[in-house]
Amino acid sequence: MEFTIKQLAPLEAAADCLLLPVLGDKLSSAAAELDGAQGGLLGRLVAEGDLAAKAGSTLLVPLAGAAAKKALLVQLGKEHKAKTLRDALRAGAKALLTSNCASAAVFLSGLKKVDFEAALAEFTQALVTEDYRFDRFKSKPEPAGKLTRFTVALGKKDEQGKVEAALARGLAVGHGVNFARDLGNLPGNICTPEYLADMAGAMAQEFGFKCQALDEKEIAALGMTSFLSVAKGSDVPPRLIVLDYQGGKGKPVALVGKGLTFDSGGISLKPGEGMDEMKYDMCGAAAVLGTFRAVAELGLAVNLVGVIPSCENMPSGRANKPGDIVKAMDGQTIEILNTDAEGRLILCDALTYVARHEPEVVIDLATLTGACVIALGHVTNGLFANDDDLADDLLAAADKSGDLTWRMPLFEEYQEQLKTNFADLANIGGRPAGAITAACFLSRFTEKLRWAHFDIAGTAWKSGAAKGATGRPVPLLIEFLAKRAKKK
Ligand code: BES
Ligand code: MN
Ligand code: ZN
Repeated sequence: MEFTIKQLAPLEAAADCLLLPVLGDKLSSAAAELDGAQGGLLGRLVAEGDLAAKAGSTLLVPLAGAAAKKALLVQLGKEHKAKTLRDALRAGAKALLTSNCASAAVFLSGLKKVDFEAALAEFTQALVTEDYRFDRFKSKPEPAGKLTRFTVALGKKDEQGKVEAALARGLAVGHGVNFARDLGNLPGNICTPEYLADMAGAMAQEFGFKCQALDEKEIAALGMTSFLSVAKGSDVPPRLIVLDYQGGKGKPVALVGKGLTFDSGGISLKPGEGMDEMKYDMCGAAAVLGTFRAVAELGLAVNLVGVIPSCENMPSGRANKPGDIVKAMDGQTIEILNTDAEGRLILCDALTYVARHEPEVVIDLATLTGACVIALGHVTNGLFANDDDLADDLLAAADKSGDLTWRMPLFEEYQEQLKTNFADLANIGGRPAGAITAACFLSRFTEKLRWAHFDIAGTAWKSGAAKGATGRPVPLLIEFLAKRAKKK
């Protein structure tokens, strides 16, 4: 898609379709300006309820006496709530993409109580992510959407630079989300740890930052025995991917992503039904890579380190067995009571390793527990943190980006559940509070760090008819990082 920003009068805009907001029963000033030449048709359609009052309703109207062919009225509602506005803009983007128009101009400037730049960024992000499809394995893919040219109408008082930045922001977040979704949707036989490392390397090269992929020998040399205990059950070799983006000053933010390219459960084998969805067990890694892509595309003034331990969890003669004891990189011993609790076994070594980069804060992202899905469903990310300021910043970013997140407790009392007679800690803590005990396990390896953990098991992908990766929580992370870039 091609994007332009320019001063445009609604009557003279020569696009197939003009996107015009309506606020309750009021036409936006651009819509009203156009309506004179339509004999008041648009106003009547709103007054008579052809465009419903419910935010997100849309109506495509043929135009006469204007340079454009059609108008797409989008109801933004009159409440001015961030969520309502975001959902309505997304509905508008969807309607535009399915409207059979090749070019569009959008009039979002000059609305009362609506921040133009924020709305434009939201709308652009929605346009990019709603246009997403994953059809590379279909012999006869459905024809691509028609919309290829998109113009942002600039109001007289708008600052071009700020509007450009908002557009760029929406595009970059959209691209980051779609990049993460692509990686997530790829099947395990294609998206192996090596493939993931290659994609990370290619992306890093394209955007000009550093990326290293360590192989099994190098991972062993680091002493990541816990990570390798999971990897050794598979014939597919593991990788430790390390990304380094330097755009700012000071200590880096570190992102750590769980990169299980397939999780069969290992010897504690999962039931067969729905096991295919365990190709998504690298969505934490994908979110890290999507975030790097967006940060680099925007050239954000932050320093960012990424660490992705990636392997398969498979049953074999070399696989972990229940009861096995391994020594993690930091020297703690772990009794593996369930080989399906493998994410924490690879993350603990990655969290030990990341301390070498002396990060300001560490945020890990992992499809860690089914228990988190039971607790929060597919709606809300689970957030855990050993630092209240960090948690608050992340929750604020969640709110701003609409990437729903809820903080869960890490009370000392839960650590009891990880006790075992035979090692420093067990890798499972029984059925109660499974998402919390998993986070507690990780907390044993992050005591010296300001650390937060996202359990995205319920939010990283959708099942059912709309099955596919979501790219969450890339929008949240960009919001968090952009805010930090501004502060420094
Ligand atoms: N990757 C899974 C978690 C998962 C399960 C994500 C379902 C999304 C949907 C993880 O490795 C796992 O298997 N966790 C176990 C832990 C248990 C053995 C303590 C789980 O949640 O069942
Ligand atoms: Mn598992
Ligand atoms: Zn897993």
